[in-house]
Amino acid sequence: MSSRSDRAPMRGRLTVAACLTLVASAAAVLTACDKNRTDVAGGAQPASTFYIGPQPGPDRALPVAENPYHGDRTVLAEGRQLFNKFNCSGCHGDHAGGGMGPSLRDSSWYYGGSESDIFASITEGRQHGMPAWGSKLPRDQIWKIVTYIKSLRTPDEPDPPR
Ligand code: HEC
Repeated sequence: MSSRSDRAPMRGRLTVAACLTLVASAAAVLTACDKNRTDVAGGAQPASTFYIGPQPGPDRALPVAENPYHGDRTVLAEGRQLFNKFNCSGCHGDHAGGGMGPSLRDSSWYYGGSESDIFASITEGRQHGMPAWGSKLPRDQIWKIVTYIKSLRTPDEPDPPR
């Protein structure tokens, strides 16, 4: 006495079994591939250093840009000139004391006050009205401006306000 309703669950089971077999063999193939890859790499590299490419998301270490002029007083005057020439002073005020844009002389920073933070603010731009300069100025000049900004309120500041 077999009806459709009797056989249906059986067919279902067979399908599940078939699927499991497929998954198992796929896993076997993947494992085999993985093995090959390790063999090719000589097994020398642990998997954690195997980078595939750019990965989105904040939880990864980005390389920190370093100022090639760090502590170099000879670029300060040029940094100040660039600051005025590209009209940073138009928004941030002469001597960067603040205007339509925030003061860059005080000790508070919205986006961080390290050299690499300031470099990032200038190159990328910031959402509330700070233009991005990365495609307009050479990195070299941006670093000189960063060096100038870091010199503000220090004895090294060129042409300080009086
Ligand atoms: C059109 C006006 C304008 C110009 C021109 C401009 N800025 Fe800005 N800048 C702003 C504004 C507004 C902000 C604040 C943005 C925000 O809060 O998101 C800002 C933010 C910044 C910050 C981040 C400050 C912080 O507290 O973290 C830095 C650094 C900076 N500007 C540097 C510069 C430099 C250097 C130049 C010239 C190459 C420049 N800006 C040109 C308007 C300007």
